[in-house]
Amino acid sequence: MLNNDKLWYRDAVFYELHVKGYYDSTNDGTGDFRGLSMKLDYLKDLGIDAIWLLPFYKSPLRDDGYDISDYYSIQPEYGTLDDFKNFIERAHSLGIRVIADLVLNHVSDQHEWFQESKSSRNSKKRNWFIWTDDPTRFSEARIIFVDSERSNWAYEPVTQQYYFHRFYSHQADLNYDNPEVREEIKNVVRFWLNIGLDGFRADAVPFLFKREGTNCENLPETHNFFKELRKMIDEEFPGTILLAEANEWPTETKKYFGNGDEFHMAFNFPLMPRIFVSLAKRDSFPIIDIIEQTKDIPENCDWCIFLRNHDELTLEMVTDEERDIMYKEYVKIPKMKLNIGIRRRLAPLLDNDRSTIELVNALIFSLPGTPIIYYGDEIGMGDNIYLGDRNGVRTPMQWSYDRNAGFSYADAEQLYSPVITNPNFSYESVNVEGESRISSSLLNWMKKIISVRKDYRELLGRGEVQFLNQRNKRVLVYIRKYHDQRMLCIFNLSRRHTYVELDLSEYKGLKPVEAFTKSYFPRIGDLPYFFTLHPRSFFWLNLTVPSFDDSMDFDGDE
Ligand code: BGC
Repeated sequence: MLNNDKLWYRDAVFYELHVKGYYDSTNDGTGDFRGLSMKLDYLKDLGIDAIWLLPFYKSPLRDDGYDISDYYSIQPEYGTLDDFKNFIERAHSLGIRVIADLVLNHVSDQHEWFQESKSSRNSKKRNWFIWTDDPTRFSEARIIFVDSERSNWAYEPVTQQYYFHRFYSHQADLNYDNPEVREEIKNVVRFWLNIGLDGFRADAVPFLFKREGTNCENLPETHNFFKELRKMIDEEFPGTILLAEANEWPTETKKYFGNGDEFHMAFNFPLMPRIFVSLAKRDSFPIIDIIEQTKDIPENCDWCIFLRNHDELTLEMVTDEERDIMYKEYVKIPKMKLNIGIRRRLAPLLDNDRSTIELVNALIFSLPGTPIIYYGDEIGMGDNIYLGDRNGVRTPMQWSYDRNAGFSYADAEQLYSPVITNPNFSYESVNVEGESRISSSLLNWMKKIISVRKDYRELLGRGEVQFLNQRNKRVLVYIRKYHDQRMLCIFNLSRRHTYVELDLSEYKGLKPVEAFTKSYFPRIGDLPYFFTLHPRSFFWLNLTVPSFDDSMDFDGDE
């Protein structure tokens, strides 16, 4: 059963997945909703509270479903509407919420709205899209897919005009100045929330409205539309949420929270690359700086913090210097680059270094915000940069060392994508079944960190953050605080052994208890508190009031 806390998203753990890549129950080579339902127990056991489903609507799949041709039906290979309903019901019965992608900036050129619009300049739907004779309009709007598109306008020969598209040319942008479009998108939202979804991850939110003389991003009209949408869902579907995909500079990204009356959540795009920059520079400053800039958001809002997702690790909104650092540290061969970013999964990006993988997860599980895991990253799945576009990070989930990684019993050639066979990451060794049997596996470690986070649900979900000044910039130190609870978090970002001396006098008399093993540390006194740290290691220390004579003890529960 679902908890009925209105702020449930503030202390949840999210998980992003694509139904096509999760589990194939029909053996046709593509995952489906029945298969996904069969794997809900796994997600429950992992400790997941909410799933974000990548687009599953009808689509020619030229941008993996972000090119919708019918908002009201499901891509046939993924199952039926009933399968979807059963999946939602089963997820809810296990206490798991489900949000889905809402692709509202554009539709596929195969969508009947666009087909009708392009059929004649007088078509009823002409004004649902943005047409012009002059493709120099909106010239300040940047091109996103720079590796494949040269312009945001595409020529359409039947009516001899150009239409606007921010992404691929087969994804025509809807005209949000047209009230009919806005109404129809609200109907789409109503349709799926009525079926039982718990909210949406809204795709490409900054781009809805376009105005000459601007870069056509983050315009007040766009914010107003989302405020309207929010009002509608608050009134008609209380408890459901909107999560913004706005890959912008911190001040602009923050604005999507409005005054607590726009988005409930937004991905912390500014933080994500800075985590990797901090590691590359062995310097805590990029993280501290960005958290300071993204603090102070309305009480009923939260960041969603991620390390990797289904796209390239985008580097559009970082400085030139930061981008250079990222390419130098993480791009081993040019093929790893895509558009303005890096197409890699977490484990290969970090050279499969277990300590670093744990460290970055410990960061996103303890910095302010709600963590989200990209499917497969909990077992350390690899990628295949030779698959083109972003497909290399979207390969089938690796369940076991059986045929096709236990994902499907179709012929290997029939799979929507080959499984990962590179010996370093092959499904024969990196898979759920195998890792479940080894207590020291990444999967078991991920389960542990999720459960520890839940031990401190409110403190880590809702507490404020305060960075501690100290001299070793290789070490990041902060305290999370919530009422009388305190968690001291220490991270060695470098590849060397190091130490840190902390002035904890404010917490004199308290006793640090290590959050994973419940080991006791000496009571905080007047002297600086001293920690030695292994390369890429971290501590989470709960600062407790000692309740008995603790002069001799070393361990809590063994
Ligand atoms: C999605 C991409 C998609 C694009 C166009 C993005 O923000 O995450 O996967 O290609 O929107 O819809």
